[in-house]
Order: sequence, then C-alpha cells, then structure tokens
Amino acid sequence: MEEWIEKIKNAVSLEELDKIRVAIFGKKGILASEFAKLKNLPNDIKPKVAKELNEFKEKINRVLNEKKAALEKEEIEKALKAEKIDLSLYSPAGIKGAIHPVRDTMDRIIEYFIHMNFSIQTGPLVEDDFHNFEALNLPKHHPARDMQDTFYFKDDMLLRTHTSPVQIRTMQNTKPPIRMISPGAVFRRDFDLTHTPMFHQVEGLLVDEKGAVSFANLKFLLQDFLTYMFGDVEVRFRPSFFPFTEPSAEVDISCIFCEGEGCRVCSQTGWLEVLGCGMVDPNVFKAVGYDNVSGYAFGLGVERFAMLIHKIPDLRSLFEGDLRLLEQFR
Ligand code: PHE
Repeated sequence: MEEWIEKIKNAVSLEELDKIRVAIFGKKGILASEFAKLKNLPNDIKPKVAKELNEFKEKINRVLNEKKAALEKEEIEKALKAEKIDLSLYSPAGIKGAIHPVRDTMDRIIEYFIHMNFSIQTGPLVEDDFHNFEALNLPKHHPARDMQDTFYFKDDMLLRTHTSPVQIRTMQNTKPPIRMISPGAVFRRDFDLTHTPMFHQVEGLLVDEKGAVSFANLKFLLQDFLTYMFGDVEVRFRPSFFPFTEPSAEVDISCIFCEGEGCRVCSQTGWLEVLGCGMVDPNVFKAVGYDNVSGYAFGLGVERFAMLIHKIPDLRSLFEGDLRLLEQFR
C-alpha cells in the first residue's frame, strides 16, 4: 500500500498519474482483484480485510486528487511561462476602423434635415412602375423615361431609379402637411468615371396648404443646406426640367476646386451641379389624391457630395473597398 502512495507522490505528469489510477481503480486493477479475493476468505476475517481495503481505497483517492490538483497547477504555470504575450508590443499593422465617406456624407446630410424638422422615410428598393414612374407624371412611353436607364424585372417591377417613389408612398400613407427626406440606394444601368449602377440619393418633400409653400422657401432652404455642407460657396438656380416638378431647377455651387476661376473638374465653367429641385407638379398631387395643396421637392446624389467634399476623382473607387483609399478617412 505504501509503495502505491509513494508512486503517486513521485509522478511527474498527469499522464503518468492517470496510468497509476488505472492500475489501482481499473477493471483489472489491484483493488478489483483484492475485492474479488474477499469471497474466498474465512467469514471471521472477511469484515476486517474488507474494512482495510475500503480505508486504503479512500486514502489512495485523497492522495490521487491532491496530486492531480498540484500537477494541473504546475502545467498551467508552465504554459503561462512558455506562451508569454507582450501586450505593450507595437503592431505595425495598426488596424483601425473608419466610417466610409458615403456613409459619413449621408449622416451629415440627414443631420441637417433632422435639425430642420424633416422626418426620415424609407421605401422598397424593388419598386413597381406606378411608384417609380407613373405617379411621378412619367406615363408609359414618355420620352423622359429615357433620362434614367432602368433595370427591369417581370410584371412591371424594377429596381428604383431614384428615391422619388418614396414621395408617392409617403403621401399615400399620410395626410398633409408633410416634411420628409428619404435617404437610400438607387439603381441605373450606367458605369463610368462618374456613374455606378448603384448609388445613393437623398430625396426631400415638403407639402402644405395651397399657397403656403413657395419657390422662395425652397431656395432659402437649399442655400442654407449647401452652405452647411460646403461652407462659403455661391449658389445659383438654373431652369431645368423634371416631369414631377414645375417649375424645375438644377442647383449649382461655385467650384470648390478653383473658386469659380474655371478648372478641369468644373469643365472650365466655374460651377458644379449638385441638386435637382422644383415645385411639385399638380399631376403628382392628383396621382395620390391630394387636393388644395402646394409643395416643393428636391433630390441629390450622395456620392457626388462625398466626391466633392473629399476631392475624390473617380466615383468607382468608393465601391472597390481598397483599404488604401478607406484608410484616409479615419
Ligand atoms: N429624382 C430626380 C433624379 O433622380 C431628382 C429630383 C428629385 C428632382 C426631386 C426634382 C425633385 O434625378
């Protein structure tokens, strides 16, 4: 018995300890064979031997458990020493996240209009012909549909080409007055230096009683907004055409690269186009069943804003996920 206790105390690893445990407690271990011998012993000494065996079993168990705990502690300490990590070591990778410039620009735009008390509305990316075109005064076969190269599905469904359908959905679901913006992704079949098949727009719509909303209101708001986004720039409104607004205008800011002198970015004009807008066309109000109201609407491309703010020459680089570009926006 003492020799087994000695063996346990001298074990140097958990593996060795386990072998000893099996040799004592296993099916063919010494305890099993000792207990098996009991039935051949004379009845008068049987209880005494059985008692000794049980005491031995208990003692061995205790010594085994103590040794096991000690060896485990030793092994953990050994591992900790071997696998030391220097947390203060400088990492040349320096990996840190950054907000993508499109997201960042979108957030700034949203922030402005929230302060101006506009609500935020969203709509589906897969739209029907009615909301994307028809209700926006763009009947089938209208030549102005060619202004937006569309991805079509079956059954008059399509990927929305602008955020304007959210104007329609919002008016269908709420009574005037309305003050909303709608940020989100839009899709067009276009791919070059300044176009990607997916990009983001922010739409704006304000509707109130007839005669309560004027072009002057619209002009004030957009002038203030563009100053917030681009700082001290000149803003001009140029007559234009959209089927869903009348009158319509495109809005330019003085070129932020050459300050109006004329350069490659502004095609020597001194101006950069940044927005489309106008007074909501009466046919749009008719399509949603609105009566006796007036309103204005505007729409802008978020990527265009991001490119101008951060002076990014190629729109496509915003979507390539190249870390060398993204790392500059930390
Ligand atoms: N939906 C137009 C576009 O995508 C932008 C716009 C919105 C113009 C609202 C006027 C009013 O080009």
